[in-house]
Amino acid sequence: MHIKDRDFDLFLPEKDIQNKILQLAEYINRDFQHRNPLFVGVLNGAFMFAADLMKNITIASELTFIKVKSYAGTQSTGQINTLIGLEDNIENRHIIILEDIVDTGYTIQYIKKYLEPASPASVEIATLLFKPSALLVPLDIKYTGFEIPTQFVVGYGLDYDGQGRNLRDIYRLTEETKA
Ligand code: PRP
Repeated sequence: MHIKDRDFDLFLPEKDIQNKILQLAEYINRDFQHRNPLFVGVLNGAFMFAADLMKNITIASELTFIKVKSYAGTQSTGQINTLIGLEDNIENRHIIILEDIVDTGYTIQYIKKYLEPASPASVEIATLLFKPSALLVPLDIKYTGFEIPTQFVVGYGLDYDGQGRNLRDIYRLTEETKA
C-alpha cells in the first residue's frame, strides 16, 4: 500500500478488527447494562471504530463526539488543542471514551482532565489500538483491542498526513522506509 511518499504493509486485516470489536462490544454490553453509558468518540481517528463498535452495542446508550488534535505527520506532538468540546451534560453519567489509538496517552489524559469538573459517574477508555511502550503518562485502559509495537500505523480511521482513513484494514510503515 502506497500512501503519499511512504509504503505500508498489511498489519491487521478487516476480519481481525471486526472480530475484536465484537468482543469489546460484548464486554461493554455486559459491564454497562442498565447504566445508559455515554460513548464519547474522539474525532477524527475514532469515527470508524465508533461506528462499528456501536453497531454491536445492544444496551441503552448514547453517542457523542469530541475533537482534539495531537499529531503532525507521523509523530505525536504532545501539543493538544480541543477543537470541538463536549456540549452534553455528563453529570452522573457513565462515560466511555472511544479512541482509535492510545500512543503517548496525552490525548486521553487531556480528555479525562477536561471531563472531571463536570462530575461524571465514571470515565472508562475503550481503544482499538494501544502502544504500551510509547505511553508517557499513567493510564488505566479498561478495553483494549490490540496492543501493538511502536510503529506508525494507518487505515481504519487512522491517517498518514490526512490520507488513508478510509482503508478497511490497518497497515504499518514498511521497515526500509521507516523514518
Ligand atoms: C490520534 C489518535 C488519538 C491520539 C493518540 O489523533 O486518534 O486521538 O492521536 O495519541 P496520543 O496518545 O499520543 O495522544 P490525532 O491527534 O492524530 O488526530 P486525528 O484523530 O484527527 O487523526
